[in-house]
Amino acid sequence: MTQPEWWRDAVVYQIYPRSFADLDGNTIGDLAGITSRVPYLAKLGVDAVWLSPFYPSALADGGYDVDDYRDVDPAIGTLAEFDELTAALHAAGIGVIVDIVPNHSSNRHAWFQEALASPKGSPARERYIFRDGVGPDCAPPSDWTGAFGGSAWEPVGDGQYYYHMFAPEQPDWNWDDPDVRAEFIKTLRFWADRGVDGFRIDVAAALAKDFSANPLPSAAELAALPAGPDHPLFDRDELDGIYAEWRAVFNEYDPPRFAVGEVWLEDKRRLARYATGESLGQAFNFDLLRADFRAADFRDIVTTNLDIAGIAGSSSTWVLSNHDVVRHASRYGLPLTTPGAPFVGQGPTWDRDRKWLLTGGTDPAQDVGLGLRRAKAATAFILALPGSTYLYQGEELGLREVADLPASARQDPSFFRNPGFEVGRDGCRVPLPWTACGPSFGFGPAGAHLPQPAWFAAYAVSVEDADRDSTLNWYRAALKLRKELLAAVGPFEWVDSPADTLHFRRGKWQCFTNFADDPVALPAGEVLLASSPVDGAVPGATTVWLG
Ligand code: GLC
Repeated sequence: MTQPEWWRDAVVYQIYPRSFADLDGNTIGDLAGITSRVPYLAKLGVDAVWLSPFYPSALADGGYDVDDYRDVDPAIGTLAEFDELTAALHAAGIGVIVDIVPNHSSNRHAWFQEALASPKGSPARERYIFRDGVGPDCAPPSDWTGAFGGSAWEPVGDGQYYYHMFAPEQPDWNWDDPDVRAEFIKTLRFWADRGVDGFRIDVAAALAKDFSANPLPSAAELAALPAGPDHPLFDRDELDGIYAEWRAVFNEYDPPRFAVGEVWLEDKRRLARYATGESLGQAFNFDLLRADFRAADFRDIVTTNLDIAGIAGSSSTWVLSNHDVVRHASRYGLPLTTPGAPFVGQGPTWDRDRKWLLTGGTDPAQDVGLGLRRAKAATAFILALPGSTYLYQGEELGLREVADLPASARQDPSFFRNPGFEVGRDGCRVPLPWTACGPSFGFGPAGAHLPQPAWFAAYAVSVEDADRDSTLNWYRAALKLRKELLAAVGPFEWVDSPADTLHFRRGKWQCFTNFADDPVALPAGEVLLASSPVDGAVPGATTVWLG
């Protein structure tokens, strides 16, 4: 990417490498598979891809348990193949964003193995968060639970425990340790030198921690503390120093490397500090992942996030699906919740209610047609907003959640650590269908590492490619048109509109969404794009772009 500000209004396509395309037939997607699909990405019209982790990993958390930050998992490829992929993407004008996982390593990381082999109090243990057990029976240092369930502390057999915010296979780094800081600077430079254009920063609000209280607060006390300078885990002030150092590294490159932080915070105003030009530069706004398809909620979310992006001098991000949540074509097929009662919770378990609705037989059944209609309407809505849009692989095919994976096929630790409570995130990670038949719908010459349902056939790339009215061809048209419209865009303004609709304009480009079930009158203007056929009126659950 040659323009320093390319990311501000980019369409970024998230690839979950293990589930994208498998060239070597080991049932796991690989980098060469992605390279073979660069023409597909180019035709889709995305500006950049974000690659979820492809580093060596035991897959205790789908690759977010990293053994070595500067290598490629042998099941996925080699560094040379990474370079080939980067070159192919760049040749197609597509940027490359890699995932940096700085909150924790895997328990197989050389430094963690060294820490286990080293005595209590040793410099090797200082790089992680080791604490003595409490009392005569060496109880865990606190009663905290990890994000995937179970204790957040794992005993190591000598009276000490280590802290893991996520799975026990993901020990948290100690960011007060200079070795850790230097190690990540080295990693950022390693990938930037290889030509990546940017970074997605995993769990970006959690790196800095304060475990100095003795005793540590109880889980109940912790839950009552707002994230911020007094919270031992989230959104502490010391993060500014860490990201200022990273910013200096990003700015060594021309154009400066870009970064977007995965930041889940209840107090939205706190998001701005991650998105400034002194820090990461952009922060994820996840509000639409939690919102129902309702005009008032969408409007509030847009207003708040444009505001925050303005305060930060950044651009907002819009996202409807990713590898952690129920695909939006399924979410929107469920009955709406009661107004004013948004889904609650945070992190990988917050949408468990929706997963239960999807897996709990057919009560209430998802309305597949309505789900996809609303999904396309919401996608057209966010694509028209100022800022950048993050798409998740497969949404361009209209894929919905694979909700009925058998327990024996599931891989996600949040399933295993929350029996009977959380089904986990595998349902949105099922390998993509490229053809309507074949051993794994064209994903690869062998099977797929998660079973694909029979209904995937109708959503295969080859099928949709050949169908003028497919979701895929609609995405292609929308992305192409968006690029053209952005060239002459004006300031964002809301336009008054009937109840249950939203209307905004950016100069001549207008976006109108009907969130209700019944049709409403089409506003004046030429229809440039519609998420479902428009015939004089705007049908329910439909977005139109007008010029
Ligand atoms: C982020 C990732 C998620 C992962 C977690 C721990 O939330 O998106 O997939 O499980 O961090 O790394």
